[in-house]
Amino acid sequence: MKKLRIGVIYGGRSGEHEVSLASAASVIASLDRARYEPVPIRIEKDGRWVLADRPPTAIAASEVIEQARLQSGRAIRAGREAHLVSHPGEETVLTIERTTGDALDKPRENAYVTGLALDVIFPVLHGPFGEDGTVQGLLELADVPYVGAGVLASAVGMDKAVMKILFAARGLPIVKHLVLLRPGWEANRDSHRRAVDRKLGWPVFVKPANLGSSVGISKVKAASELGAAIDYAAEFDRKVVIEAAVPHAREIEVAVLGNDDPEASVPGEIIPSREFYDYEAKYLDDRSETVIPAPLTPAQTNEIRGMALEAFRAVDASGMARIDFLLASRSGQIFVNEINTIPGFTTISMFAKLWESSGVSYPALLDRLITLAIERHAEGRRRRISVM
Ligand SMILES: Nc1ncnc2c1ncn2[C@@H]1O[C@H](COP(=O)(O)OP(=O)(O)O)[C@@H](O)[C@H]1O
Ligand SMILES: [Mg+2]
Repeated sequence: MKKLRIGVIYGGRSGEHEVSLASAASVIASLDRARYEPVPIRIEKDGRWVLADRPPTAIAASEVIEQARLQSGRAIRAGREAHLVSHPGEETVLTIERTTGDALDKPRENAYVTGLALDVIFPVLHGPFGEDGTVQGLLELADVPYVGAGVLASAVGMDKAVMKILFAARGLPIVKHLVLLRPGWEANRDSHRRAVDRKLGWPVFVKPANLGSSVGISKVKAASELGAAIDYAAEFDRKVVIEAAVPHAREIEVAVLGNDDPEASVPGEIIPSREFYDYEAKYLDDRSETVIPAPLTPAQTNEIRGMALEAFRAVDASGMARIDFLLASRSGQIFVNEINTIPGFTTISMFAKLWESSGVSYPALLDRLITLAIERHAEGRRRRISVM
């Protein structure tokens, strides 16, 4: 059988570039070489696509971030890490061409990246310009099977304001929140301050709508700190979400796998090393803990797994996603916090560990995702495009 050539696209223009290098290192190292030929394609922070002459090797995001810090010789500010140097002699590529001719029954060799035929693309990109539907749109145009969510679910999964609307429409519990746009905030700071005070109370979490890895997020305990937190979040996005804090929140996560008939993993719990699960706690201090399965009652476990599937369907996701919950530890109230359509994907990331505990090994996970990508692509091709 011919080996499938898997284009692994990683890096990217977002503040989660380094996290993506770690995820891609795991994916490339674990693809079964008897069946797959991985082709590493790196998107530089400046947006150039290069055929990497060697794949990344780190196993943990903290490792890559540390390397980047050492290379740059200056302190890292979350979301604004220094550029990793690219290697001389690497080819810059950006063209993905659609093949002509009838390839209906063979979803292969149908995307060309500067003459390189790829069968399936595995986008391992976190954050804007990668996890948000932009790259997925390009891959739709190229008509190539790709792993994970399509354009719509990717875009919605990146937008914390829009995903809440869809979750609420499905009857999923979400936290009380307000959404504001940067120009409106700048024009009338006082009325927004009053609205937060009146509708949400304190503390609140202030977040850029479109981002991840806790970049740009602040916990605000008093009205006097709100302005600075909104200004900071607004540096990363024109849209800012302000949420009532879930008191004594426990952080529960569920991994989902599948297309139209998705399955949910056992839930896991994260115990952040800091006051909340911020960038530092996620990637830098290596002291946050995970507990799998999460210590929950059987009823809570069932409820949360059911909600995870519902959230997956609410945004019309496919392939995979990780759904994150906040559980108010005293009242027991559960809130869906967010869906991540390309969750951290190293062998030691929550997504992989959740599936491992649910009986799916990391290499088997990659197989499933590639199969799901091909199935989804084939299903998409059944669609009639013209009425004539
Ligand atoms: N409403 C909230 N109540 C309590 N903690 C929150 C709330 N929103 C966010 N957090 C904390 O901030 C972290 C990051 O927020 P999240 O919305 O998950 O953003 P990201 O997409 O960057 O991961 C969460 O994991 C949690 O620790
Ligand atoms: Mg999160």
